[in-house]
Amino acid sequence: VAATALGGTGLKAPDAGALKPGLAGPEPITSTGDLVEVELVAKQRMQRILPEPAEPSPLITYADHFPGPIIRMRKGQRLRATLVNELDEHTSVHWHGIRLPNLEDGVPYLTQPPTRPGERHVYEFTPPDAGSFFFHPHCNTVELLGRGLAGVLIVEEPDAPKFDADLVCLVKDWQLDKTGRFGAFTTDRGASRAGTFGSVSTVNGAIEPVIEVPTNGDIRARLYNIDSTRVVDLRVEGAEAWIIAVDGNPLPPRPLDGWPMGPAMRIDVLFRAPAKAGQTLRLTNVYSAEPRPLATFRAVGPARPNKRFKPRALPASAIPEPDLKDAPIVPMAFSATAVAQSFAPDVLAGLPYADALCLSAKTFWAINQQSWPEGGHEHLPPPLVTLEKGRSYIFELANLTPHLHPIHIHGYTFRVLSSDGRKVVPHHADTVLLEPKERLRVAIKADNPGDWMFHCHIIEHQDTGMMGYIRVA
Ligand code: C2O
Ligand code: CU
Repeated sequence: VAATALGGTGLKAPDAGALKPGLAGPEPITSTGDLVEVELVAKQRMQRILPEPAEPSPLITYADHFPGPIIRMRKGQRLRATLVNELDEHTSVHWHGIRLPNLEDGVPYLTQPPTRPGERHVYEFTPPDAGSFFFHPHCNTVELLGRGLAGVLIVEEPDAPKFDADLVCLVKDWQLDKTGRFGAFTTDRGASRAGTFGSVSTVNGAIEPVIEVPTNGDIRARLYNIDSTRVVDLRVEGAEAWIIAVDGNPLPPRPLDGWPMGPAMRIDVLFRAPAKAGQTLRLTNVYSAEPRPLATFRAVGPARPNKRFKPRALPASAIPEPDLKDAPIVPMAFSATAVAQSFAPDVLAGLPYADALCLSAKTFWAINQQSWPEGGHEHLPPPLVTLEKGRSYIFELANLTPHLHPIHIHGYTFRVLSSDGRKVVPHHADTVLLEPKERLRVAIKADNPGDWMFHCHIIEHQDTGMMGYIRVA
C-alpha cells in the first residue's frame, strides 16, 4: 500500500513497523476520459495522528483518510465534484487558486446557497491552468481545516518535462493534546496576533515521515503549506533544490533558498534524490530560529542513470497579462480594528440560520477599515471595490500591522510586481505573503466577472474580520 502513496513513491512512518492505516496517502483519483468525477463526503473520521498511547483523533475529511482525496487531472479535462455534507453544519467547497466561473467558487451565500447537513452540491469546471491547487471549506474554516478538511487538486501540464517522481507534501500542524483530542482552534490572544499555533507538525498527516524516492532520480515535490497559522520556509537539506512553480504557476527556476510560505501558499520544487539506495535528505522548516525537521526522503531501488542535474523550466501558463499602463491603483489597507467587536448572544440567537460555530466570531481586523461582520457569510457587507470587467488594476496592499498576512484573491492569479521593503521576484501567485508594515503591489486583468473573496489566509484573521470581496462587473 505504502509503495504507491501520493503518486508513484512510498510514504512511510519513521518506523515501518509502526505504519498505521492512514499514514500512507491514497491513490490519486484520475481518469482517462474527458471527465474526472469525484465524490467528497465531508464527515468525521477517526485517524491516528499521534503514536500510542494517544488515541486516534476525530478528523473531518473529504475521503477515508487524511490526506485525501488527491485529484490528478490533465489540463483540458473537466472536473465534476459532488460534495456530500455529512456534517452537522452547512459547508461548501472552495477551489483555491483556480480561475473558475464565479458560481463554482464555493463561498456560501456569495456564490452559492450553503450546502446544508444531508445535502449535496455539484461543482463542475475545467481548470484553465496546470498547477498544484487544493480545496477546502469556506465557513467555520478554523475548525474544519484544523481537523483536516482539505484535499489536493493537481492539474498536469500536457508538455511537462519528465520527472522520476512527482510527490505531494502537505505541511500541516494539528491542535492536539497528548491523548489525541483536539484543543482550541482559536483563542482571542492568537486571533488578534499571529494566530494560534498547533502542537504537532506533520507532512501528509504523519510526524516526520520517511518518503521514498527513486535513487538518483529527479524529483518534483509539490510542497504545500495547508496549515491555518504557521509560516514556513522549506529546504531540502543535502540536495541542490530549485523552485519551478509558485502556487502552481511556473517561474524561471531559482534556488530554494528563502521562499517563506504563509498558509495556503505552495511551491513546486525539483531536486535530485541521493545517488545510493538508503541515503537520505531532509525536508526542514527553517523559518523559526530553530530549524525543524519535517520529513526524510530516502532513496530506494535501482539508481536512475547518471545524467547531469539541471533545473528544467515548466511550460509557461497563460495568465492574462495586466496592462500596467492603463491600470488604476486600488489601495487595500490591512489593519487591526480599534476595538474588538463581538456579537451579543441575544443578537446571535435572533439571526436566521444561526449556525453558532460560524457566528461566534469577534472582529480584530479590517480591510480598508471594513471588517467582515462575522465568522460566516450570512450577512454580506458591500464589496470592497467594484472593478470594470476587462480592465487591468494594480492593488497596493498596505500592511499596517506588525504581523504577517498571506493575502489571497479568489478566481484570479496576481502578477506580483514590487514592494517598498524588499526586492520582489516577479511571479504569479494566488496568495502573497505581506510582511509587517510592507506595501506590496500586485496586478490583475479583471476578465473574470463575479464577486470574489479577498482575504488573509491565516484563518483566524480571516474569521475575525480580515476578509472582503471584490466585484468585477
Ligand atoms: Cu483558500 Cu478564501 O481561500
Ligand atoms: Cu492575517
